[in-house]
Amino acid sequence: MKTYTSASDHVQLHDLLFVTLLSEDQVQERVREIGAEITQAYRNKKPLFISILSGAFVFAADLIRAFGGDCEIGFVKLASYSGTRSSGDVQTVMGLEKDLQGRHLIVVEDIVDTGRTLHFFLDHLRSRQPASICTVTFLRKPDAAEFPVPIDYVGFDIEDRFVVGYGLDYDGLGRNLPGIYQRSK
Ligand code: IMP
Repeated sequence: MKTYTSASDHVQLHDLLFVTLLSEDQVQERVREIGAEITQAYRNKKPLFISILSGAFVFAADLIRAFGGDCEIGFVKLASYSGTRSSGDVQTVMGLEKDLQGRHLIVVEDIVDTGRTLHFFLDHLRSRQPASICTVTFLRKPDAAEFPVPIDYVGFDIEDRFVVGYGLDYDGLGRNLPGIYQRSK
């Protein structure tokens, strides 16, 4: 059995130092809780989980295994083209081939920061006539919110500081860390 061990409560990625915010145990316990809640609500609805790449793939993998019922999973890749302006549009660059009409969709996000990504993606999904849409994010930064997005299930609300781990990266590194680490002050 391979167990992640860290001799200390911090990690160095590129030029930045990060300190532990949530341990692997805290992460896994919360995922189990959310999985149980979603199971209660969706057990007989055969939902389609939609994971937003890249960051949410780790959370989505754990979440579907914490879900007790039939389900499917699909992936989308989104990109935002902001140019020189702060408010960019978000476009689907790798989409779902499945017919979404009449399906119960559960959109899985790693972190909601400004809300821009989910805001635009939900608009896109609504146009494909699903039976229902709900949103689940592992992390949310309430102080960074700029776009209104309804979030049905939140793992943790955190302060507006850069974090890595559990799928989230800093310039490509850190996705494989099993806990969440916050940028050191
Ligand atoms: P939003 O569109 O501003 O809500 O940002 C969502 C996306 O930005 C997430 O899916 C992440 O890919 C990225 N992101 C936002 N905050 C962080 C962070 O603290 N660490 C790593 N990635 C982040």
